[in-house]
Amino acid sequence: MEKKHFDKAILVTGGAGFIGSHLVRRLVKVYPDTLVVNMDSLTYAGNLENLTDIEDYPNYRFEKADICDATSVMSILRRYHIDGVIHLAAESHVDRSISDPLDFVRTNVMGTVNMLQCAKNYWESLPEKYTGKLFHHVSTDEVYGALELGNGQMFEETTRYDPHSPYSAAKASSDHFVRAWHDTYGMPTLVTNCSNNYGPNQFPEKLIPLFINNIRNRRPLPVYGKGENIRDWLYVEDHAEALDLVFHNGKAGDTYNIGGCNEWRNIDLVKALVKITDQELGRPEGDSVHLINFVTDRKGHDLRYAIDASKIEHELGWRPRTCFEDGLRATVRWYLDNISWLENVTSGAYADYYKRMYSGR
Ligand code: NAD
Ligand code: TYD
Repeated sequence: MEKKHFDKAILVTGGAGFIGSHLVRRLVKVYPDTLVVNMDSLTYAGNLENLTDIEDYPNYRFEKADICDATSVMSILRRYHIDGVIHLAAESHVDRSISDPLDFVRTNVMGTVNMLQCAKNYWESLPEKYTGKLFHHVSTDEVYGALELGNGQMFEETTRYDPHSPYSAAKASSDHFVRAWHDTYGMPTLVTNCSNNYGPNQFPEKLIPLFINNIRNRRPLPVYGKGENIRDWLYVEDHAEALDLVFHNGKAGDTYNIGGCNEWRNIDLVKALVKITDQELGRPEGDSVHLINFVTDRKGHDLRYAIDASKIEHELGWRPRTCFEDGLRATVRWYLDNISWLENVTSGAYADYYKRMYSGR
């Protein structure tokens, strides 16, 4: 019913999480004629505090619901006359996937299949069927496996899937299901695969926010193995811009890789982060270097990720805007300016989880 005031309605799943909240904010502000419905079950990683600045916008709605719950999903699709789904809701942390793999199968695989099936049933029930509809699945470069050091290879859209962790295996599985709904039922779907994101609002279990928080508290910085693993880092707002562009201009049935063209060895990144965080805390240069602590390597730790993002650049004109030094400093500043956010997500309802994961580190 509500949709009559708007040109179209987009359902974003996982919009209270890290990337989802940046995407929701962008969509709500850039497209005032589009209704943006954020559906999130608010796990430990979902936090409505991430969106307080836009919660009163007339084109924003929040629905607390689980992507595995078909009744709730169908009712939201029908109530808001949803035209497009941008699906981000997932369990997203590799270390948790190693200790609790079934949570990842439930959410990332079963949840995605449920979303696909609900969207199919809803859209096929409409007179216009799939016209003007799109299911955009947000995935990761980790589905492609690991690259070797120093051979210059990169993941392309055609690279064979070779996931190693329970997280990447579950995401790979969900990607296959999304393509199956396109090929089997003719549902307009597309997939984006992005490299490591960083920026404000990331839960402090991932490398960059965990280490900023630990430096602030003078706690050890647990670098896995020798810190030689390489990741490609992209500022979260650049990812949100790419998702917006692909959702509005991408081709159904296609895949788009998104990356920062910004490879860093973990140990070099950690040293840069220590330097910037010490500066922003007003500590003497090198004050926190002694916190770096090499610990037992992650099981099955992928050596290197690197993305060839030339397709999205050539076809849609997207390039990352934020240089790493600026993005990292902005990120450090955001965490230091938002200590109450950090403390809220690492205490209260989240305390047990955080203690279990990070005690003794
Ligand atoms: P996140 O963990 O910060 O947020 C996930 C969100 O999904 C949370 O708000 C959580 O409450 C919600 N959620 C989890 N299970 C749910 C369920 N069953 N029903 C409804 N909501 C549920 O994750 P993120 O880092 O923002 O990643 C978002 C998406 O982007 C994921 O699909 C992830 O695989 C993908 N991705 C992440 C990165 C990265 O570097 N973080 C890179 C590439 C792709
Ligand atoms: P992470 O932020 O968990 O992202 P992903 O595993 O999806 O790449 O980790 C980034 C890199 O940092 C990865 O190579 C693992 C490493 N890492 C550590 O060395 N120590 C840590 O405490 C964490 C969380 C990650």
